[in-house]
Amino acid sequence: MVRVIVGTQWGDEAKGRAIQLLGKNADVVARYNGGANAGHTIYLQGEKLIFHLVPSGIIYPYTICIIGNGVALDPEQLISEINTLKSKGIEFGKRLFLSDKAHLVMPYHKITDDKDNIIETTKRGIGPCYEDKYARRGIRVADLLYPKIFKEKLSLNLKKYPSLNLNEVYEKYIGFGKFLAPFVADTSRLLNQFIDDGKEVLLEGAHGFLLDIDHGTYPFVTSSNPQAGSACTGLGIGPTKIDEVIGVMKSYTSRVGKGPLPTRLSPELEEKVREKGEEYGATTGRPRRCGWLDAYLVGKAIKSNDIKKIIITKLDVLSSLSEIKICKEYKYQNVPSIFSIPELISKFEPVYETLPGWRTEISHITKYSNLPKETKNYVERISELLNVKIIAICVGPEKENTIYL
Ligand code: GDP
Ligand code: IMO
Ligand code: MG
Repeated sequence: MVRVIVGTQWGDEAKGRAIQLLGKNADVVARYNGGANAGHTIYLQGEKLIFHLVPSGIIYPYTICIIGNGVALDPEQLISEINTLKSKGIEFGKRLFLSDKAHLVMPYHKITDDKDNIIETTKRGIGPCYEDKYARRGIRVADLLYPKIFKEKLSLNLKKYPSLNLNEVYEKYIGFGKFLAPFVADTSRLLNQFIDDGKEVLLEGAHGFLLDIDHGTYPFVTSSNPQAGSACTGLGIGPTKIDEVIGVMKSYTSRVGKGPLPTRLSPELEEKVREKGEEYGATTGRPRRCGWLDAYLVGKAIKSNDIKKIIITKLDVLSSLSEIKICKEYKYQNVPSIFSIPELISKFEPVYETLPGWRTEISHITKYSNLPKETKNYVERISELLNVKIIAICVGPEKENTIYL
């Protein structure tokens, strides 16, 4: 069984958490897009772990983890992440594999990333790394293993950056190459073999569908495709290998960085939700803006990814609110899609449905039938509006705070 896990909003839906829930029986977890701009949080026996590049499945001792060709790989970040995880007791053994075709994030990518703060990126060099990839001057993991070839490519690229010293960057990266060499593999071949052998496979998407470079609120997006189809390109498997796509949806909306958020809460409510939901970026620590659930935009994610099942996260965060709104649609002004011109988004008025809140803590509840009737009402209305099956509800950050349906 091969399943893709996709965020249905603007990222931080708790995909790490979803991998923790679905991954306990997975033989393989593979990342297909993005880079260290992602931050996936998992609580493991009370300890908070944040994954940027290593697939979250590494928490399970027998799970094989793959970083695919579609990932923008910052070798320094990966090494530091491996060392941190090892120091926290995670054994790597021979179970992390890194695509030889993944593009490297270089020091000049980080220096040039969103210099004028127009997009408010994470400044992890992701956009510039993908720019070089598509301009066909990128440097890939495989190049690190061949110092002469690496130096030629590096010196060509460094011509534009006189402030960077060739030998310094060269030595540093060759050192990274030595550390990473044992992990490098033809991951497409490996993954196809696992799939042909009938292994349980999860494909871990980073970011969220509304940040997709093609389908999101361009230009306020990331530079890769979180969309499920990108799992094929970013890992080198055929589309017919994918059995299902599971969406991860926060019970409200959050957004970090610039770009429209039409259902944004009033400052007072936003503060309440941000504090209760700890809505601060897992990568940059920036406060996230918060809004009501946008069922219209999540509906687009569901269609475009063919999501049949979803996991709802952070339902406990809404516990203190007296009423809860869901945006069902927008009042249009003759534009084919609100995605196409995000600058005009303020002209689109969300149409809300208002539901009663439950005003009681729900984190301790583990059975659906024990939830307050208003909570069940909210969940069932979401399922109805989106026409999807809800397979689990998260009511707190720990693994135990989960209700399976
Ligand atoms: P990701 O990038 O999609 O993996 O999500 P992040 O890790 O960036 O953000 C999700 C945040 O919500 C993390 O701090 C999680 O620990 C936390 N979290 C996950 N599920 C729940 C939940 O059900 N309730 C609460 N209160 N927090 C949660
Ligand atoms: P996870 O995987 C939330 C946002 C940035 C910025 C825009 C472009 O944790 O859900 P980039 O550095 O990618 O060029 O920034 O995208 N962004 C995210 N927001 N969660 C993420 O990842 C994000 N990855 C990028 O804040 O607005
Ligand atoms: Mg995150």
